[in-house]
Amino acid sequence: MSAREELLALTRQLKEHVAWLERGGVVGLPKGQQTAGTQPNRAAQPNRLAQPNRLAQPTAAVPESAGGLTGAAGLEQIREALGDCQRCKLRDKRTNIVYGVGNPDAPLVFVGEAPGADEDRTGEPFVGAAGQLLTKMIEAMGLGREDVYICNILKCRPPGNRNPEPDEIAECEPFLKRQLAAIRPRMIVALGKFAAQCLLRSDAPISRLRGSWYEYEGVPLMPTYHPAFLLRTPSAKREVWADLQQVMAELDRLGIARPKK
Ligand code: URA
Repeated sequence: MSAREELLALTRQLKEHVAWLERGGVVGLPKGQQTAGTQPNRAAQPNRLAQPNRLAQPTAAVPESAGGLTGAAGLEQIREALGDCQRCKLRDKRTNIVYGVGNPDAPLVFVGEAPGADEDRTGEPFVGAAGQLLTKMIEAMGLGREDVYICNILKCRPPGNRNPEPDEIAECEPFLKRQLAAIRPRMIVALGKFAAQCLLRSDAPISRLRGSWYEYEGVPLMPTYHPAFLLRTPSAKREVWADLQQVMAELDRLGIARPKK
């Protein structure tokens, strides 16, 4: 093939790929302006979805859950694979691994940052003050904690509730990915800057990310403020409620029951 033919073939492939992305609802791509010294693997702009429903069905991008098992069996198998995890330095100070809680076939998954003191003590995510607020938010959506699944980017408490570090995320995120592949949710809510930035590979502030649909591994994702932030800034509850209303509208549109409505 001549250089010109090769270029034409590449151009055609690129056009087809862009058309495929557009059919999937992707309305923007990061500009290819990364230069040496910047972070080449972090997207400047995560994929924003024009219409979340277009990618509501998990795509081939969703990784296989352990052994291809889904639901409760998949989650159990992944928990077994995690074992008494010693993969990162958080092993030293944790009391309990905080794996996740709720419906193994949940249509909606909430992902937070990392366990705090109460979660470390009990082994259950979001049980402290921020967790109680999250429970109220879930109930206000016409759901219960048992209807959704709740988990975090990290499964062990960072000492003093410091921010998660890249090596800790690198070890832990594959398990979250596998959990999500086993649950096969129709939507994900990322709680707070940390979860949103981590799942979307973005540096954008949560104030800019929140309120729009993105995708994580083919699943529509809505970033919103973390309940702990709401405890400090109650005026932001209005924005969170607006974000959750978008999620509720989407649940209703897909015919997913909200039993406590
Ligand atoms: N904050 C989080 O992000 N996760 C928890 O489980 C508790 C508090």
